[in-house]
Amino acid sequence: PPQGRYEAENAVISRGVVESNHAGYSGTGFVNYDNATGSYVEFTVTAAAAGPARVRLRYANGTTANRRMNVAGTVLDFPGTGAWTTWQTKTVTLPLNAGSNVIRATATTSNGGPNLDYLEV
Ligand code: GCU
Ligand code: CA
Repeated sequence: PPQGRYEAENAVISRGVVESNHAGYSGTGFVNYDNATGSYVEFTVTAAAAGPARVRLRYANGTTANRRMNVAGTVLDFPGTGAWTTWQTKTVTLPLNAGSNVIRATATTSNGGPNLDYLEV
């Protein structure tokens, strides 16, 4: 995998499960968030330098409801992708520290998050 890719199935998961029943994911699976507000996936990522960095989240949402999440303080839309096997990338610019950074992606609606494949920085 590319350097800077952090698979969701290797991250810290609160109220979610690793699954692999919808094709097209990277690595060994993806995280299926529990359909609940507050469920999260937390990544610890390394940045070479401090400053704004583009962070990509790959996800699928087979429903028509936006599964908004709070990603390190920024609320982002995760609209439907058409099918659980259709994966799309959401990009956000986040201020990172040099070295280690904890980035938590928390569901803000009772539908939970989308299925989450990975975070890249
Ligand atoms: C289905 C789908 C799951 C998804 C869930 C949801 O059960 O198979 O992968 O996480 O819907 O609505 O969140
Ligand atoms: Ca789910």
